[in-house]
Amino acid sequence: MITRKSAAEIARMRRAGRVVADVLALVEEELRPGVSTARLDALAEAYIRKAGATPSFKGYHGYPSSLCISIDREVVHGIPGDRVVREGQVVSVDAGAILDGWHGDAARTFVVGDAPPAVRDLVEATRRALDAGIAAAVPGNRVWDVSAAVEDVALGGGYGVVRPYVGHGIGTAMHEEPQVPNYRTKTRGIELAPGICLAIEPMFTLGSADVETRQDGWTVVTRDGSIAAHWEDSIAVTEQGPEVLTRP
Ligand code: MF3
Ligand code: CO
Repeated sequence: MITRKSAAEIARMRRAGRVVADVLALVEEELRPGVSTARLDALAEAYIRKAGATPSFKGYHGYPSSLCISIDREVVHGIPGDRVVREGQVVSVDAGAILDGWHGDAARTFVVGDAPPAVRDLVEATRRALDAGIAAAVPGNRVWDVSAAVEDVALGGGYGVVRPYVGHGIGTAMHEEPQVPNYRTKTRGIELAPGICLAIEPMFTLGSADVETRQDGWTVVTRDGSIAAHWEDSIAVTEQGPEVLTRP
């Protein structure tokens, strides 16, 4: 079932989204060579709880942490731990929070210090694809238009598009209908209307888009070892156009 949120409900999602945006900004400030991913996770969890919210990932299908931190060939769902961040790494940070029953979900990819231009371009293109997808989330368009806008940025740069993981509706659950693929599908999907809230989340790679899950049961990595990037925002479709809920 696809639910359309009222203006009052979107206002509550905005508050949850703001917590997520602030958490990601906090992580960006603390992200430097030598910091452990467990420390970033602890800081994020403390921030979320202090804001009166709950980390939505923790306990989700048994997931152990508040953030997903995915480095280099890791695409999504990397588990924070003792591992320390190094210069030149590509670090994707995904955060989710529930505030007063409403969810926010967003991700950013950071390059730590210097990295080759091709790596920076991948990260920038994935961010641009997110923006293109958001811009297509207007009343009268269909989910397909969002998918196509995202895919076009990947095609333009020759990047791999990870297919087994997709964006999603969001609201009182983290994952609601509809699915929001990062590639064109055969069907055009539902028509977007004011009140529909989506998490749009392109995942691009520098090489093949084939992925596998590590033995830990969570971490999704590229099979060929190529670098991956992941950007995500939660948005509301409104009469006035898309409203991004997970930016400051
Ligand atoms: N942010 C992810 C998504 O968009 C969810 C993380 S998976 C979890 O689907 F297990 F960590 F929650
Ligand atoms: Co998501």
